[in-house]
Amino acid sequence: MDSNYTICRGDAALDVSELKTLYRDVFQQEDVAELADILFHHAPGLPPENWLLAREKNTNALAAACVLIPWTWEMEGVAIKVGEQGLVGTLDEHRKKGLMRGLNDALRQIMLDEGYLLGVIQGIPGFYHNFGYYYSVPLNNHIDAPFHIMPDELEGSPWTFAPATKEDIPFLLEEDERYRSYYSISVKRDRAVWDYLLTHSKNTEYGSDYFITKHSKTGQRFYCRIPGQGFGSGLIVSEVSIDISPDAFMALLVFAKKLARERDKPYLRFDLHNDSPAGNMAIAMGAKKGYPYAWQISIPDKVAFLRGIASVLEKRLAGSCFKGFSGVYRLEMFAENADLVWSRGVLEEVRPGTTEECPLTFCLNQDLFPLLALGHRTWRELQHTRPDIFPAAQHVRPFDYLARDQSAPMTDVLFPKTKSWVYERY
Ligand SMILES: CC(C)(COP(=O)(O)OP(=O)(O)OC[C@H]1O[C@@H](n2cnc3c(N)ncnc32)[C@H](O)[C@@H]1OP(=O)(O)O)[C@@H](O)C(=O)NCCC(=O)NCCS
Repeated sequence: MDSNYTICRGDAALDVSELKTLYRDVFQQEDVAELADILFHHAPGLPPENWLLAREKNTNALAAACVLIPWTWEMEGVAIKVGEQGLVGTLDEHRKKGLMRGLNDALRQIMLDEGYLLGVIQGIPGFYHNFGYYYSVPLNNHIDAPFHIMPDELEGSPWTFAPATKEDIPFLLEEDERYRSYYSISVKRDRAVWDYLLTHSKNTEYGSDYFITKHSKTGQRFYCRIPGQGFGSGLIVSEVSIDISPDAFMALLVFAKKLARERDKPYLRFDLHNDSPAGNMAIAMGAKKGYPYAWQISIPDKVAFLRGIASVLEKRLAGSCFKGFSGVYRLEMFAENADLVWSRGVLEEVRPGTTEECPLTFCLNQDLFPLLALGHRTWRELQHTRPDIFPAAQHVRPFDYLARDQSAPMTDVLFPKTKSWVYERY
């Protein structure tokens, strides 16, 4: 980084108007400045220390900034501490001086010191790989549904729609629980997050309407989220109850279609996983299957991450032909490696690997680790374009070694492809 600048963390005395001015200039949008203001004052669990700043030493002027937004994700029942790098910007005249690299170095250190298992970002392509972030969990889909596939009215429909209020938070928390059990990786939102979503978030570019639909006779309820802004010109539906029934979904389509027409939106866009129940139903009716973007994810400490998901790995092993396995399985990532030490099906320890030979070794370049560990792709899919992911014996094949090598099926078991989807927390 250019030595005329210094990196520091925010504190309670941080002047938000300074941040707002920076973001207004960087993004040329008042919305981003407002988002910074509202996040700073109201986002639950976001302390001022999580704002990272690059200042010019001579003038103390703010030149670049970003924020580490804490999230809780869940992986098959295990809570994962996640830090999202957000509101990333360097003023035009200070660009290409390594300020974002400097801020990322500081962020990485904070993530390591404070036990963040994943660093995530929803940002622009072609930039964040510079800092060890790789596309690893699907994000932002376009399942576009034209109006002609859905009716205008449903005669005598028992489903009514009303905006969600704070009284609905217990129900929304239950809905979240059902959603989390459907996916491998998901977001865990607590009462404070829902409170923020239903209040302060409304005044940001993420502001959304939440509707509860209720069956007039049975009282059965479902919900949906309809953001006010987002990519594409259609009306976006970005959350739908995971267990929504087909008839309630049809009622939702009719309701959303009316809303879209009122808002002058030419189609519905489901920003959902293609294999979510609602996404599936929309596609089956003739909506266009989407090709999602993805979260860019870094795993600052791979050994700590593997330790964190030990119970997930144990469950996978227990359900396989390796049930009760004892021994060491090594992930050889060239610059670093990780030994998973198993005893009768229990993952007793994960430690940085030694230089001693390990018969059960699976190799991959470290940039592929998030894709494999988070179930985004199987190693076999990755190998199509990356021969540097392979069971150790694959490319060299000494006979006696190959005969003993079970690292391919073991990797299939421990790191299968899974279905993940992460709703927003703001
Ligand atoms: C993208 C942006 C944050 C880069 O900030 P910066 O302080 O100039 O970045 P750095 O100088 O630290 O560059 C770090 C590395 O990324 C590369 N890089 C810089 N801008 C890049 C870009 N737009 N695309 C791809 N790579 C880029 C640099 O060459 C450098 O690589 P190197 O260290 O190997 O030489 C800045 O251009 C910006 O604020 N743009 C407008 C807002 C924006 O797009 N924000 C991101 C939203 S997700």
